Amino acid sequence: MNREITLDETIEVARPLHEVFAYIADFASIEQWDPAVARAERLGEGPPAVGSAYRIHMKAGFALHYRVVEFEAPRRLVMDVTSRPFTAREEILFDATQHGTRVRYIARFRFRAPLAALVRAFPAVMDGVARDTMAGMRRALEDRFEAPRTSLATALADRLVLPGLWQFTRFGYRRAQRRWQPCSAWLGGRHAVVTGASSGIGFATAQALAARGATVTLVGRDARRMRATAADIRRLGGNDAVRVEIADLERMTDVDALVARLRKAGEPIHILVNNAGALFNPRQTTAEGLERSFALLLLAPYRLTEGLQPLLAAAGGARVVNVLSGGMYTQRIDVDDLQSEHGNYSGAAAYARAKRGLMILTGEWASAWAKQRIVVNAMHPGWADTPGIASALPAFRRLTRAVLRNPAEGADTAVWLAAAPEAADLSGRFWLDHEPHPTHVFPHTRETAAERRRLLEALAAI
Ligand SMILES: NC(=O)c1ccc[n+]([C@@H]2O[C@H](COP(=O)([O-])OP(=O)(O)OC[C@H]3O[C@@H](n4cnc5c(N)ncnc54)[C@H](OP(=O)(O)O)[C@@H]3O)[C@@H](O)[C@H]2O)c1
Repeated sequence: MNREITLDETIEVARPLHEVFAYIADFASIEQWDPAVARAERLGEGPPAVGSAYRIHMKAGFALHYRVVEFEAPRRLVMDVTSRPFTAREEILFDATQHGTRVRYIARFRFRAPLAALVRAFPAVMDGVARDTMAGMRRALEDRFEAPRTSLATALADRLVLPGLWQFTRFGYRRAQRRWQPCSAWLGGRHAVVTGASSGIGFATAQALAARGATVTLVGRDARRMRATAADIRRLGGNDAVRVEIADLERMTDVDALVARLRKAGEPIHILVNNAGALFNPRQTTAEGLERSFALLLLAPYRLTEGLQPLLAAAGGARVVNVLSGGMYTQRIDVDDLQSEHGNYSGAAAYARAKRGLMILTGEWASAWAKQRIVVNAMHPGWADTPGIASALPAFRRLTRAVLRNPAEGADTAVWLAAAPEAADLSGRFWLDHEPHPTHVFPHTRETAAERRRLLEALAAI
């Protein structure tokens, strides 16, 4: 025999209606706020709308299938739920109040036997479930969390280098995710600049920032591709505020022209993500005579970030995120050979040394710009299956494909550093999966203060 039960819970939060609606309406966010949910997957793409569907994996071991049947932004959301133990219709109502937003959650469940008998015997259990769900939603929307610290397990994994590599896989991501706090930050009114936005991690970062309401400037080198990229991000993020700037970041004339254009436009930059990257084998130089890894991975972000510093300062609280790589752990900076002119060239070593250089700049900028409220962090995306990995490391990809993260998972920590309120005051650190990691794991890679200074002088002199 079936058993019907209706739950009706209301909360009020001090957040504007459109922010609350945007966060909840992308119902995959349920994995951040419902304590009974293990994981939520969006089936399909594009902004939430009638027809959007989600698969929600419950900690109890079964899955729910949600389908949006009515969508009235920013006031009402109705979803049909099907699963083995029950079906339901869930309605969420959003109302602006004097101090924020009221959210009312009405769920009409129809339980199948044998759960129906249990629910009949213990009706208070369902009330408890509804209260926990809404308490989780309130906590997520209040979004007041402490900055994360390195866990003991992570610290140990970092020291034992080989087991530590496991952290870079999608299983490492899943495991880390269990410790994360919700992030409901809305980025409306903030301007983000993302380099290397045409593919992989840069594309996923730009899309996630746009979906959170930021105005996003995409930097890429191919005008036609970038127009298509911008159209995709507008469509997927449901946000028209996406612009394109064309620059080949291996050419310093292009970098300087990009800086000049953005400075002329004068729009403050709240978020700068230095993501563009590639691995070059064999050694090659650009038309300007610069070794390519050095040009793209170190000199370009140096010139771009230094050049945009006034616009970052003007934002009154800006965040710079440098996308690095665990590869930097193997290399020490060689200030006398920044362009790999001496010895046998290795693309992987040149790449890792440039990333090491950008880690040093991350620390230097973090201290130099603290007073201007510019925080600067570096992050490792883990191993993500991107076009870059496919073309630069095909054998590595073949070997690891089953454990690689998807680009959105690779981008996740960059987005968190750019958006989370608790990341606003963190600076000068190296992050993986929302956790700070050491910048060196081998003593021989440590640079001296004199080498740091000489690096800055060398970059400024070019
Ligand atoms: N995927 C991983 O597992 C992984 C691991 C560690 C670190 N990373 C880092 O993550 C970042 C993104 O890599 P990805 O894996 O997403 O690779 P990807 O798919 O190849 O994306 C690289 C991006 O950089 C752009 N780019 C390359 N050269 C450029 C140039 N000269 N001027 C302007 N843009 C240029 C590419 O533009 P085009 O489309 O025009 O080529 C593309 O948008 C890189 O910094 C990489 O070092 C990735």
